[in-house]
Amino acid sequence: MTTASRRTFAIISHPDAGKTTLTEKLLLEGGAIHLAGEVKARGANRRARSDWMKIEQQRGISVTSSVMTFERADRDGNVIMFNLLDTPGHEDFSEDTYRTLTAVDSAVMVIDAAKGIEPQTRKLFEVCRLRNVPIITFVNKVDREGRDPFALLDEVADALALDVCPMNWPVGMGGQFEGIFDFATGTLRQPSGPSKEYEGKSATFSGLDDPKLADAISAEGLARLREEGELAQAGYEPFDLAAYRHGDLTPVFFGSALKLFGVTELIDAISAHAPPPREQPAEPAPISPDRSDVTGFIFKVQANMDPQHRDRIAFMRLCSGKFRRGMKLTPSGTGKPIAVHSPILFFAQDRELADEAFPGDIIGIPNHGTLRVGDTLSEKADVRITGLPNFAPEILRRVALRDPTKTKQLRKALDDLSEEGVIQVFYPEIGSQSIIGVVGQLQLDVLISRLEAEYKVEAVLEASPFDTARWLTGSEAALRNFADYNRGNLAKDRDGNPVYMAKSAWDVGYQQDKNPDLTFSATKER
Ligand code: G4P
Repeated sequence: MTTASRRTFAIISHPDAGKTTLTEKLLLEGGAIHLAGEVKARGANRRARSDWMKIEQQRGISVTSSVMTFERADRDGNVIMFNLLDTPGHEDFSEDTYRTLTAVDSAVMVIDAAKGIEPQTRKLFEVCRLRNVPIITFVNKVDREGRDPFALLDEVADALALDVCPMNWPVGMGGQFEGIFDFATGTLRQPSGPSKEYEGKSATFSGLDDPKLADAISAEGLARLREEGELAQAGYEPFDLAAYRHGDLTPVFFGSALKLFGVTELIDAISAHAPPPREQPAEPAPISPDRSDVTGFIFKVQANMDPQHRDRIAFMRLCSGKFRRGMKLTPSGTGKPIAVHSPILFFAQDRELADEAFPGDIIGIPNHGTLRVGDTLSEKADVRITGLPNFAPEILRRVALRDPTKTKQLRKALDDLSEEGVIQVFYPEIGSQSIIGVVGQLQLDVLISRLEAEYKVEAVLEASPFDTARWLTGSEAALRNFADYNRGNLAKDRDGNPVYMAKSAWDVGYQQDKNPDLTFSATKER
């Protein structure tokens, strides 16, 4: 199988919209049936944070994996390999989530039909938009009472400034739900049996005006389907592959992950329309997936997947070339080639040694800390993949030790954890106490528990005098001049880049106005 048959994607959603359920059903469709229970269990645990933390600790922090690979034939019988990357779905946001989205070629956005676009959906969507990641929308839970489908479509269009194209239509929702009609194929799938799931009850019609539809659904249902279906097809953009791939249009599928409606259509759409591995932004020039030598980048580092070992797994997204086990790659961080002897492929919960891998694939590389988030790995050591952002932290804290003799351990721990991307560390120009920054509260909880569990360091977090941080760029003279007046607000990040520590967002704006020759940036590309 080659690059063209790869689909590397993520599901973005607000908690509870049904991401876990949909993941499970996609895996079922892909034949990875034995996994379904596992995914569900994880979803249930996730809801209670304390449970989640416990599990994370028992398993050595990161059940919030990772990658699920499965295969499935498309409509023409070609085998497609899907790499579904899990974006952690906690209420809190972490940089992991953002970075994972840099490793996908497309996304599925799940929306709860009763709730529409929720805050987390919007945030994740914005990250996708930054990189023109094409999105297929799945409006979930139509088996329950939900909002009017037109209102939902308009909300997606307005809130996200996207053209929407309904691909199918629900015949009623909730108590009135009689099935889903697929516009392209004329197939009507209907609930059957006591569970009201879709269990194979489907028929294909010549179109909305096919008289035989009257035998399948109630008179009211049919009247509604015809009226709404025609309006839906006439009132929105037709499907346009180029517009979708450019991130300007989203095809919308109505469905129910729980009852299996719309799931087959969704996965068929991913096979048919979602882009295969795309060109990757890089210096000195973008990397085409057709390039023959191996390149890839680390978007995530996970510690202690196996509690017996202190290994870390670095997740590499392959961007070009055919990877073979044992080959030597040079990480941009150290510049010293490493031989990748035990690359792991993630067939969901199973892990296998990867003998080979292709662009779009994700492999896990066990290492002892040599690989960092943001590293490029390449055969020729002549490129640096860009576009993997660091985000300005939304929460800043000082770390205070309960036992002051543990300063060295603390420093080591903060170094390690920032290398993994769990936290960011800033070193103020004045004073010795480093400041840690995170994007979401959960990262702080993880930090404290890992300090204790892995480094035997008991620490508490204290308020920091700063509220947010911005990376500073500008000419050397401008930076020096700025530093002369603002030393108390300056810090360095772990790569030595200058950072302005601000007391408020207002402060950032004020300084930017006063110093037009400097750029105060909320993201830093590595
Ligand atoms: P998440 O990963 O996005 O957080 O959501 P998850 O799949 O865990 O789903 C959240 C809740 O919504 C679950 O119910 C799930 O069963 C339900 N759900 C998901 N898809 C559908 C659907 O298509 N129709 C209906 N009616 N419900 C759906 P729960 O009660 O919180 O969990 P559980 O007790 O069912 O496990």
